Amino acid sequence: MVEVRYLGHSAVWLSDGQTRIIIDPFLTGNPMAAASLAEVQADLILVTHAHGDHFGDSVALSKKSGVVVSTFEIATYAEKHGAKSLPMNIGGTYRFPGGFIKWFPAWHSSSFPDGTYGGMPMGVVVELAGKRIYHAGDTALFSDMALIGELNLDLALLPIGDHFTMGPEDALRALDLLKPKRVVPIHYNTFPPIKQDGEAFARGAREKGVEGHALKPGGVLVLD
Ligand code: NI
Ligand code: MN
Repeated sequence: MVEVRYLGHSAVWLSDGQTRIIIDPFLTGNPMAAASLAEVQADLILVTHAHGDHFGDSVALSKKSGVVVSTFEIATYAEKHGAKSLPMNIGGTYRFPGGFIKWFPAWHSSSFPDGTYGGMPMGVVVELAGKRIYHAGDTALFSDMALIGELNLDLALLPIGDHFTMGPEDALRALDLLKPKRVVPIHYNTFPPIKQDGEAFARGAREKGVEGHALKPGGVLVLD
């Protein structure tokens, strides 16, 4: 059983009761954040790219607990600022008792607010308690999503905000390639340029035979 908790924007917390994983922990300064930094603990802090709305509170979280896992560049930057880190890169798999994470490409950019290069942007597949969850990070639609679709995904977390990433139409096309059982839209409604209708996207997914769940920030999906 895996609990998936949507914390707003692209921040997602996952746990099988043993390993706690947070992806893109942008809480402080996130108008949609469903939890504060003080309320969150994680063992693995996964960061898809260096933009502030994804790297977010990674360093502060790691100082409490957990390891920042990301590109070599982002992990090194986090370590320099006092975090514990595990540098990886696209294509790499990290196994831990009860699961693994594997990094995939994303079509986007990746630099820190201070201009430091963050390496290539990524998406990530997490396996926990036998369930496979894909967090696409910030990305455009790309045809190699079909390779990720070979992994029998239980859940895909896809950006639908448009403007900086793919929008709802392309995210629906992504479902044809990823073939997940369920989909949760992310990276929308946080700021005016990425305003979208999550319920309409979820309905569009259901028309394709994919369970669409437009979770509100703070909403939970249980995979069992
Ligand atoms: Ni970004
Ligand atoms: Mn973003």
